Amino acid sequence: MENNRGSWGSNIGFILAAVGSAVGLGNIWGFPYKMGKSGGFTFLLVYICLAVIVGLTVMASELALGRMTGKGVVDAYRTVSKKFKWIGWLGIIAPFLIMSFYSVLGAYCVQYMSLNLAELSFGLSGIFGATISGGETFGAMLTNPFGCAIFTFLFMVICMLIVKGGVSGGIEKFNKIGMPALFVMLVIVIIRSLTLPNAVEGLKFMFKPGYAVEGGFIEKAPGFVEVLGTAGGQMFFSLSLAMGAMVTYGSYLDKKENLVKNSGVIVFADTLVALMAGLAVIPAAVANGINNGVAVGDITLSGPKLLFVTLQDVFSNMGSAGPLFGVIFYALVIIAAISSAISLMEVMATFFIDRAAEKGQTANRTKITLWVSVAIMLEALLVAVDGLGSNGVWVPGQAAFGVDGWNDCWLDFMDCWSEGVAMPVGSMLMALMIGWELKPEFALKEIHNGNNTGWFTGFYTVCIKFLVPIIMAFVFVGQLQSFFASASNVVLYAISGVILVAFWIFAASGKKE
Ligand code: PHE
Repeated sequence: MENNRGSWGSNIGFILAAVGSAVGLGNIWGFPYKMGKSGGFTFLLVYICLAVIVGLTVMASELALGRMTGKGVVDAYRTVSKKFKWIGWLGIIAPFLIMSFYSVLGAYCVQYMSLNLAELSFGLSGIFGATISGGETFGAMLTNPFGCAIFTFLFMVICMLIVKGGVSGGIEKFNKIGMPALFVMLVIVIIRSLTLPNAVEGLKFMFKPGYAVEGGFIEKAPGFVEVLGTAGGQMFFSLSLAMGAMVTYGSYLDKKENLVKNSGVIVFADTLVALMAGLAVIPAAVANGINNGVAVGDITLSGPKLLFVTLQDVFSNMGSAGPLFGVIFYALVIIAAISSAISLMEVMATFFIDRAAEKGQTANRTKITLWVSVAIMLEALLVAVDGLGSNGVWVPGQAAFGVDGWNDCWLDFMDCWSEGVAMPVGSMLMALMIGWELKPEFALKEIHNGNNTGWFTGFYTVCIKFLVPIIMAFVFVGQLQSFFASASNVVLYAISGVILVAFWIFAASGKKE
């Protein structure tokens, strides 16, 4: 089973790489806004419960699947399961689709960092007599397909060079420097953000239950299932689950490492960074809006506009130190984006490396990484040129179904099929596979591997057999609601319910071994 596919240099190296994969754009612009909008502290409690029950269980399972088989995601499922041997394909298609927009968003950050750097070095706004306006800059950037394509190319080249270096020589090395640097930069930005006048309003938005409505940020509080769906979807994306990443990273992990402890550390660190990112971003955005006379309901706190319009305005209004904070902030987002993107690329690279080994060939990592990057670059061009729908590019389904969430623009299209569909369905099926086809003991044997963590056995068994599949069905409904805005809720519940029940019966059926 062991070929010369490499391994992590140390457990701490693995943890930093896994945290690097988890900490990404999802933490920085997804978590804080969703938390504020969905009930502040109440949302945080729901999120933590889900992270412990579902996140920890799925994380340990994925790491175990990878480590026990020593294979990437497609071959790992093929090796262990008769009934579900095909679900690994979901775990490789999803990262491929995600990279189409992740690389473009990373490229936007590179452009913004360059802009702030130019401002810092040459004081361009002094020359042109105006500060950089977030809205104008973003508009100009989106409608410049060529520029976006070039920066996406640059982002992909950086990722390719890291992945080409191998698991310990590239990915681990980058994260060992990148993660501590990201942490320090985050602390600097948090201090600046929290010391702005009126920052406290942003804190209330994030943490005070019900304040999003009470304070005038949004009109109506979401219902419980919507909150559960939002929290669940966010958690999966943020923890890099159901995308093959943790199976792949687990396949390079030493047998002696404790998977329960490792999973716990990754979940904790990712949640901590999401909260810290919230403190860096939301109070600054809210304070800047209020201080400039914008009504709180009109401050954009979510989506790409948060990073590229609202926050750029924060830096532009900060005076002479603004561009410096701009450079630090966008640099930290770039590190977060790269450390996640390389884990997505590694899922694909590992697949081809293992395939070559299976055929008895020695895999050429450099060549494989190059081809994976070229394929990603081609699909990313669609997203880059589309500019979030600004440039009138054709998007599948618009003519037939009208513009409706999933087909607003190429980014939403790719996001819908990866994060919206493949992710919840993939992890629901994984839980059914382990819980009912293979039985929990099968995974627990690998998870414990001599380090039996007493309480975990009972906890894991209940979660993987019952809680995870059921919660995933709700998360699936939540995801569908966000992408298929005009579909009726009854239909969405029915689709999710039928998939759950059908595969549950399928997994549990057949002769007992
Ligand atoms: N976890 C990353 C983020 O929060 C995204 C990601 C998803 C990375 C899946 C790898 C796998 O942005």
